[in-house]
Amino acid sequence: MGTLPTKEMDFERLVEHFDHYDFELAQDPHPCYRYLRERCPLARSDQHDGFWVVSTYEDVHTVMSDSETYSTKTLIIPEQEIGLPFPVSQTDPPEHAEWRAIIQPWFSAGRAAKSEASVRQRTNELIDEFVERGACDLALELAYKLPADVIADLMGVPREDEAMFRDCANRVGDTSIDDPEGAGAAFQELFEYFGKLLDLRRHEPRDDIPTALVNATVEGRPLTYEELVMLCIIIQLAGFATTAGFMANVLWHLAEHPEHRQRLLDEPSVIPAAVEEYLRAFAPASVGRRVARDTVLRDTPLKQGDRLILLLGSANRDDHVFPNADVIDFDRSPNRHVTFGQSIHRCVGMHLARLESKVMLEEVLLRIPDFHVTPGAKPRLAVGHNWGVRSLAVTFSPGQRLASPMG
Ligand code: HEM
Repeated sequence: MGTLPTKEMDFERLVEHFDHYDFELAQDPHPCYRYLRERCPLARSDQHDGFWVVSTYEDVHTVMSDSETYSTKTLIIPEQEIGLPFPVSQTDPPEHAEWRAIIQPWFSAGRAAKSEASVRQRTNELIDEFVERGACDLALELAYKLPADVIADLMGVPREDEAMFRDCANRVGDTSIDDPEGAGAAFQELFEYFGKLLDLRRHEPRDDIPTALVNATVEGRPLTYEELVMLCIIIQLAGFATTAGFMANVLWHLAEHPEHRQRLLDEPSVIPAAVEEYLRAFAPASVGRRVARDTVLRDTPLKQGDRLILLLGSANRDDHVFPNADVIDFDRSPNRHVTFGQSIHRCVGMHLARLESKVMLEEVLLRIPDFHVTPGAKPRLAVGHNWGVRSLAVTFSPGQRLASPMG
């Protein structure tokens, strides 16, 4: 539990200055989340110019279900100056529906299922790169690579550009508060990259998202250049750090809990339910909202322009909805977690995220079943809106590659 406070007074102070970018808090946020839910479910933090902290399932549900009152114009606290708001995710009703309809078909359950073979192949290629070594960093070498490569595939990014693409995604996602200039530069690189890719697709159409976007319309008109690029970037950003952080958290848990791992080895058919339970227990994303009109939440007046953070990871540990919420239980049912959000902004990529997680787990369990955290190694958790293990050194019995190094 790191240096988190144990005394009530310390918790009060922690809550008053609640900061999702606090390194110590990120290492184990759940004691603080519990305190928030039980003692001050709608807390006011004085950090980042002040914002409300929403921690219970009921309140998260209320806010997410009311997009007239709570706008997604603020998704990240503090807001980042990047020019245009992101289409879809930072669009309120009624415009939101038309934007969402443009990308939705690419993320249906059926489409996700169709990509299973290629996701599995990519997973195995990544495992091939370290399987003979008997040791690797499962976060860096697998969890943070696979989702970037899957999105690169959807975007029609050529193989030779994948490393650059991954690197940009990492830099945008990881450094935005400590190093806004570095994040800005990475964002600019992505912007230019997608700009060129979109131009290319205008002349040489393919079966990929950029081609669909250049042919799409909103309000009867084609999308502007900036809208097109921002749409590509939001898909990339929304689908990368969330999935990567989540998968790394699952691997971390399994590396430290052989009894859970054994169950999945004995009963692989439980893997989808395990993914669902891990999604509940290790929700990676917290999202922001901006109050669009004066309102009252939990008897507290909120003013237009106030900002809130919705701690989805806390909502999912609310004992009122999930009995023994801190216990990982693969047989939990029902399991209506809010990890993918709710209502109109519910994650468009959830089928794909589930598929990637399932396939990754199946292959890891098959190929390096005895992986465990390397003695002395300390997993490091990312701070901010995307919570997840960024580094996970593990050791395992070496195995064999499936493909030749050139394969
Ligand atoms: C474990 C992985 C993932 C988690 C936890 C996650 C979480 C979320 C959450 C909580 C939202 C709702 C945001 C809000 O209400 O403001 C969201 C929206 C979204 N997600 Fe995901 N996501 C994941 C994976 C993906 C993937 C793989 C993609 C696509 C490649 C994706 C694309 C999107 C997009 C485009 C939105 C905006 C939808 C809208 O505003 O209508 N996500 N995601």
